[in-house]
Amino acid sequence: ADLIEKDQEIALKNDGSPTKRFIRNESDRPNLESPLGRIPIIDLSYVESKDLDQRQVEDSKLKSASSFWGLFQVIGHGIPTSLMDEVRNVQRLFFKLPPKEKQNYTIADSKIYEFKEGYGSDPVLSDEQILDWNDKLYLNVHPEEGRKMDLWPQNPESFKEKMFEFNEKVMIIMDEIFKAVARSLGLDEFYFVNNGIKGLITWRFNYYPLCSKADLILGMKPHSDATSITIILQDDQVSGLEVFNDEFGWVKVPIRPDALVVILGDEIQIMTNGQYKNVLHKVVTNSEKERISLSMFVHSNLQNVLGPIDELIEDGKPKLYKTTTVKNYQDGVMANFANGKYSIDAIR
Ligand code: SIN
Ligand code: FE2
Repeated sequence: ADLIEKDQEIALKNDGSPTKRFIRNESDRPNLESPLGRIPIIDLSYVESKDLDQRQVEDSKLKSASSFWGLFQVIGHGIPTSLMDEVRNVQRLFFKLPPKEKQNYTIADSKIYEFKEGYGSDPVLSDEQILDWNDKLYLNVHPEEGRKMDLWPQNPESFKEKMFEFNEKVMIIMDEIFKAVARSLGLDEFYFVNNGIKGLITWRFNYYPLCSKADLILGMKPHSDATSITIILQDDQVSGLEVFNDEFGWVKVPIRPDALVVILGDEIQIMTNGQYKNVLHKVVTNSEKERISLSMFVHSNLQNVLGPIDELIEDGKPKLYKTTTVKNYQDGVMANFANGKYSIDAIR
């Protein structure tokens, strides 16, 4: 496995031409001309509005976005665009550091996929595995006692301070989103917020170098997220995130510098018995510009029960997923990843 991992690093350090381990099978290659998706934009400032009619209109917009797309973008969240830009810039500066310096933040023997911490690429589990064209930095962010501060970059100097500032705001936005999602389902608005839905939050800083053979490789393979929701701070200049929709196929998520992308994950699909979608998504690269993004993963408390919520099982519909614990589900996800299967199949 050591040799294989070196192979990946060399490719990323090189001039952007991929070794054969990155080349996708023909059926999985990206269309570099995917159309832009008309992804709904939700103005979050409505969540605390006193105007009940407005609330109803916006809640139902969120409901149709969640069931048709499994994602939406949010604006009106109160985070100044200047702070979002600073976070992006600090992230860019980190990935520009020499490889030797970034590797100071690598945990050598970490082989666990979703909760892998520190700097690096995906673990390479077999010779057949086709590699994703990216580099990343994983950090545990919540709960605070779970942070491994020696893995948080010291360079650029403002990294920690900027991320702490951004995190404080994002934690509040997460509550707003969970309140709106609960209301849109006809549940009490505190249903998720009061039930440990923000159990474990991990951030993953993604870096996609430019690639001379962008038509043959993927920045990230198609997957759904094993989270309740994932909030993504996208690059403000370079697109690359694509989502799959039953009606439109693969479409690009438009860039909107003041917006955050909200992806619904497996937990929400399971809890809503399939009413809301765990949207399938992937990342396409290009030959001209590198791209960054920050994925903020929200997982429920590991001890929580996870299964379809009784009130949300529609009359005459079967229960699509077993009821288990979040811990059992996450263990199944890891095993499925090693076998190349989709995460949600861990609970069918
Ligand atoms: C992901 O977290 O699945 C990819 C996010 C992105 O690069 O836009
Ligand atoms: Fe994802």
